[in-house]
This record gives sequence, structure tokens and C-alpha cells, in this order.
Amino acid sequence: MLLSTVLVALAAASSVMAVPRPFIRDAPVEPRRGCGTHISAARLASAERKFQTQRLPPGAENATATLDVYFHVVSANDTVEGGEVPDSQIAAQLATINKDYNTTGISFRLVNTTRIRSPEWFNKVGPDSPEEAAMKTLFRMGDASALNIYTVGFKEGEGKGLLGYATFPIDYNSKPKNDGVVLLSSTLPGGPLAKYNMGRTLTHESGHWAGLYHTFEGGCTGLGDSVDDTAPEESAAYGCPDKRDTCPGGDVDPIHNFMDYTDDSCMTAFTPGQGTRIRAQLRTYRGVDV
Ligand SMILES: *[C@@H]1O[C@H](CO)[C@@H](O)[C@H](O)[C@H]1NC(C)=O
Ligand SMILES: *[C@@H]1O[C@H](CO)[C@@H](O)[C@H](O)[C@H]1NC(C)=O
Ligand SMILES: *[C@@H]1O[C@H](CO)[C@@H](O)[C@H](O)[C@H]1NC(C)=O
Ligand SMILES: *[C@@H]1O[C@H](CO)[C@@H](O)[C@H](O)[C@H]1NC(C)=O
Ligand SMILES: [Zn+2]
Repeated sequence: MLLSTVLVALAAASSVMAVPRPFIRDAPVEPRRGCGTHISAARLASAERKFQTQRLPPGAENATATLDVYFHVVSANDTVEGGEVPDSQIAAQLATINKDYNTTGISFRLVNTTRIRSPEWFNKVGPDSPEEAAMKTLFRMGDASALNIYTVGFKEGEGKGLLGYATFPIDYNSKPKNDGVVLLSSTLPGGPLAKYNMGRTLTHESGHWAGLYHTFEGGCTGLGDSVDDTAPEESAAYGCPDKRDTCPGGDVDPIHNFMDYTDDSCMTAFTPGQGTRIRAQLRTYRGVDV
């Protein structure tokens, strides 16, 4: 109460007295999409060489598959800021990914939701953190084809400020318990994170989990994202910069693709080539008959 009174007083004063800028430097900074799923050029090249030799041939024409989803809601307390997510939001999140994956032949069904009260994990889980290892070791469920999703707060440490991160299919065999998607709870549909609250962060992260790279992977040259029908892109795009074109020749940047960094409302599609790659990765590394 006292603080807000002071802020109101400052704001009122600033219009008359031109208060110097340092007084407002603590104004909230809008977060930008940050995905913690990174792979070095060397590891990507080696993973792609392996995939070339291991890739299983397609099965039936137009085959489809439904994958099991295990949702794990980690919270610090009973509030939305503390990570609580109602069942209705989880259902809306499943509906969003099912809509977004429709062209790929893959769909998802929720099998179980586990609610975990742990301020420690809510705040500190991040890529390769000890908290992540403890959480996943205790709670991961299902086989290689099961999508495990953990919602957390990314408040501190390695994961601070992320919207999410995921593991790749090719890494399941060596680290099965580590497999899954970790997601910022406020990105679920109807959540409080403006521009990123339509559920597209899970579409994007589960895209990695299903074997896709970022559309801007590798920049304008080289292997890129190993998908033929996504135009190369020099770097991540934010917002919704229509007609952005960062690489010489060819098409405009694929800013409407789920595997870029644009706003949720800007993302609309996986390409047919991404669908083909998703199915091949799921067949080869997750034992999915598709
Ligand atoms: C697969 O889908 C295509 C396009 O919808 C359709 O033309 C074709 O008949 C389908 N094939 C089978 C075996 O259902
Ligand atoms: C709930 O947890 C969040 C995240 O740690 C914290 O910001 C908030 O103050 C907590 N709220 C209550 C009522 O404890
Ligand atoms: C895609 O949507 C159509 C129409 O709702 C539905 O019949 C079909 O089963 C969906 N495909 C997948 C893979 O979910
Ligand atoms: C669902 O999760 C709860 C809590 O972790 C667990 O006790 C239960 O066995 C799970 N059920 C299934 C079908 O996996
Ligand atoms: Zn990503």
C-alpha cells in the first residue's frame, strides 16, 4: 500500500518535474520468448549423420498415432503466480496441441496429472540442474513414446526467464528419465503471460521433443533445421514481423512456423516436411508406429 502510494506520487511528480530516468529503471521488462533447447553445430551434425543411417522407413500411408501425455504441475503455493494450474487449462492446452499437430498425423491424450508442491523445484528447475534430475527421476512416467510435461516457474539459476525446453528423441536411449518437456506455467492457454499465453510454447517444445530443430538453426547456410520446406532464417524472429527476409535468395522467413520465436498469435503451422520428420523421428527413436 505504502509502496504504491509512493509510486503514484512519483508518477504524478514526473509529469511536472521531469524526474530523471533512473527512478523508473525497475519498471517490469517484458519477457521475450526464450527456449532452452540448444544443440551445438557439431552435435547436430553427428545426430543427423546417425539419423541418416538409423531412420526407419514409413509404415502405412497416412498413418496416425495418439501419444500418451503425463502432466506434472509443480507449484510453490496455491496461487497462479505460484504455479497452480486448473484442470480446465490443462484440457485447453491438450486441445491446442491437438489442433496444431493435426496436419502431422500425431495426436495426444492426457493420461494423468500429478500435482507436486515444491517451491524449490518451481523456482530452480532448469536445464541440467540438480533439481531437474531429482524431479524427473521421481516423476517421469510411461515409455519412450510418452510425453511428460512439467510446468514450473523458471525463477532462478540456469532456467531463469525461460519459457520452456525439451529433450530430443535421439537422446531417449542414453537418458530415459531425463526425457520430456519443461514448461513455464504461465504459458498455458489463458495464462497470465501476455503474447505467450495461447499454449504455443508447448506446441514448440513438443516439436523439439518430436525431433524438430528451430527454423533458424544454423542460420542461412549449411544443414539448417534439416527440413527442406522451411526457408532458412538467419536468426530468431520475435513479435510478428511479416515479410521478414534475413537470408539471401529464396523465400521470406518462416515466422509463422511453430519452431520460430514469434508471438503465440503469429504461429500457425508445421510444414509438411516437418510432419514427415516428426513421424520419422517418432518411429525411429520412440517406437511409435506411424
Ligand atoms: C492419404 O491421403 C491423401 C490425401 O488426403 C489421399 O488422397 C489418399 O487417398 C490417402 N491414402 C490412403 C491409403 O488413405
Ligand atoms: C507464491 O509463489 C510465488 C512464486 O514463488 C511468489 O512470487 C508468491 O509471492 C507466492 N504467493 C504467496 C501468497 O505465497
Ligand atoms: C485432424 O482433424 C480432423 C477433423 O477434426 C480429424 O478427423 C482428424 O482425426 C484429425 N487428425 C489427427 C491426427 O488428430
Ligand atoms: C496418476 O498420478 C498419481 C499421482 O502421481 C499416481 O498416484 C497414479 O498412480 C497415477 N495414475 C496413473 C494411471 O498413472
Ligand atoms: Zn525451441
